[in-house]
Amino acid sequence: MSEAGADWALRLDKVARLYAEGSGTLEVFSDISLSLRQGEVVALVGPSGAGKSSLLHMAGLLEAPSRGEVLIEGAAASTLSDRERTRLRRDAIGFVYQAHHLLPEFHALENVMMPQLIAGKSYAAAETEARRLLVLMGLGQRLTHRPAQLSGGEQQRVVIARALANHPRVLLADEPTGNLDPRTAAGVFDALIAIVRTEGTAALVATHNLELAARMDRALILHEGRLLDGGKPGTSPA
Ligand SMILES: Nc1ncnc2c1ncn2[C@@H]1O[C@H](COP(=O)(O)OP(=O)(O)O)[C@@H](O)[C@H]1O
Ligand SMILES: [Mg+2]
Repeated sequence: MSEAGADWALRLDKVARLYAEGSGTLEVFSDISLSLRQGEVVALVGPSGAGKSSLLHMAGLLEAPSRGEVLIEGAAASTLSDRERTRLRRDAIGFVYQAHHLLPEFHALENVMMPQLIAGKSYAAAETEARRLLVLMGLGQRLTHRPAQLSGGEQQRVVIARALANHPRVLLADEPTGNLDPRTAAGVFDALIAIVRTEGTAALVATHNLELAARMDRALILHEGRLLDGGKPGTSPA
């Protein structure tokens, strides 16, 4: 692997997020750089208000940084047209939010098929892939349950399967288990980590829970506008 890093799935290069506030500006963070290798599972840890969601929105090409550059597989977002950027977001990035937004009238399998059908896959191929992902998420016995017939943890498992349905290079998860009780959260987290490892997807997972962060390859800590590399959680720095 060269330093030039053709194998980086996601890079943020000296990005800043500023918001207008009265007559001045609020600087949430500035000069933040990070790189995720293909298949790496990284925690983004920080207290509420630290800027985790802002950073993920930027990484997911939902918002342009105030300064700096976002690169997805080496492509610099600022050099793309709106159309190219939208396509890159759709093809290369999967999102998981705290609240699930599953389609209530469709069962689990159909919810995971939907983004694949929108992307132009055949019904049969989408169904095969949705079944495979849901089985990996431990939902083999829940394929034709609608969201209302699933527990909160099961719903988030469907959401994670759906986010991976079109094989994104990068999964961005914003406090994906924030609405769940600690035991359910830990189970869903473990399933998320296992499936992204199986699929080879890079993942950046925001959480304020250090115990959950410790399950990942390494943790980045966002605090007072700085990003610190916390290394492998639970071990002392080399
Ligand atoms: N659209 C916005 N306009 C102004 N301030 C914002 C906006 N979005 C977020 N902020 C502020 O930016 C800071 C970081 O927010 P956020 O990224 O949501 O943090 P976290 O996800 O870590 O809780 C907070 O102080 C928040 O109030
Ligand atoms: Mg947030």
